[in-house]
Amino acid sequence: MTRDFICSNLSLGSGGHLCFAGHDTAELVRQYGTPLYLMDEQLIRRRCRTYLDAIRKYFGGRGNVLYASKAAAFKRIYEIMAEEGMCVDVVSPGEIFTAFKAGFPMERAWFHSNNKTDEDIRFAMEHDVGTFVIDSTEELLAVDRIAGELGRIQKVMLRLTPGIDTHTFEAVATGKVDSKFGFAIETGQADTVTELALTLENLELSGFHCHVGSMVFDSDVFIRSAKIMLSFIAHIRYTHNYTAPELNLGGGYGVRYLASQPELDLDANLAEVAEKVSAMCRELYLPQPAISFEPGRSIVADAGLTLYTVGMVKRIPGFINYVSVDGGMTDNIRYALYGAEYTVLPASHMEEPREMCCSVVGRCCESDDVIQPNVCLPESTQRGDLIAVCTTGAYNYSMASNYNRVPRPPVVMLDGEKSYVAVKRESLEDLLLLDA
Ligand code: LLP
Repeated sequence: MTRDFICSNLSLGSGGHLCFAGHDTAELVRQYGTPLYLMDEQLIRRRCRTYLDAIRKYFGGRGNVLYASKAAAFKRIYEIMAEEGMCVDVVSPGEIFTAFKAGFPMERAWFHSNNKTDEDIRFAMEHDVGTFVIDSTEELLAVDRIAGELGRIQKVMLRLTPGIDTHTFEAVATGKVDSKFGFAIETGQADTVTELALTLENLELSGFHCHVGSMVFDSDVFIRSAKIMLSFIAHIRYTHNYTAPELNLGGGYGVRYLASQPELDLDANLAEVAEKVSAMCRELYLPQPAISFEPGRSIVADAGLTLYTVGMVKRIPGFINYVSVDGGMTDNIRYALYGAEYTVLPASHMEEPREMCCSVVGRCCESDDVIQPNVCLPESTQRGDLIAVCTTGAYNYSMASNYNRVPRPPVVMLDGEKSYVAVKRESLEDLLLLDA
């Protein structure tokens, strides 16, 4: 049983029900239905504070924490980020508009993306996005030109690839030399673009950025990339007399999806990165730049839980058992796409022995619509039972689709004893909104 509770917000309630953030999941389902995304607001706030406190304690208060909002983007999240004093990373006009409409102070937004169109650039400037993180020479020139047209000086950072392989999963490794993102240091392209950026009149270069990948459990990855980035900054200081005010080390800290994975001590990790960064700066005779981080998953992942209702149990003797639920790859595509692992729990029968091995599958007309294979559930599992998938706060809602014209679930926030709807359940009528 204790192996079930991979995060401190999971517990056992009365009647063998799973509780999440102090709420009985069966009660929540009675109120909001399934499929249902839940988010633990207090945990999200605590995670923000862990990062912000670390910047204060270990980095002398010089640095920013940007929530990578691609992990989960809707108005309420941006409001919470604003209240916590966070900055945000936005990657599209859609995220910019959502943040703007939520009243987020846009000077605290950093605009990423490897392909910003002229329209995107203009839109971002018109919404006063604070910093552009530049990914290509074409973009650099376009941002300079459009800033000139709008009569503004635009703050920019250059995204570099330090050439690091995180050895986590390939689809989300972004810091290698052959990545589609950023300018490689190793090839000299980072030098060339820095030189160009320093000559452009409508830009203010505020420093450099890198992001090496996801599901990192060890500060060593950040230390290695910091070393390469700081050496580059020292080299540019020497060759171009430009001292970068800020270094953004990106996001990527991992979370626990399974009991077998470690629980990350974020505070200790950040303390270690800070110690190594200041030692490296001393060695390089470099004034320490402000150090920023850009976490997505480690802010929201285990603050999320998805609840489903079982529709059928299909046993094929000698082969496999299937348990079908009322959601699937439309609300959680991560197993189908990455083979991502999850802890799946029998939310309404937590105390029963789990002797049926099965694949928990979704409702879509597609064999790959699997939420998780090799799950153990009670033999008694039947239509109407509740199934919980843990750690679904990051990249589930934000990657949801309407495949098979399945409406997307609501996002319900849990805040102490309160619960409230942050994103409404999509209706059948909503699905027709864009049909001309
Ligand atoms: N900064 C940049 C520039 C990024 O590209 C990302 C993630 C982050 C920060 C945040 O990384 P995090 O702390 O969340 O690991 N859809 C995939 C994840 C793709 C991540 C893309 N970039 C998934 O479901 O695992």
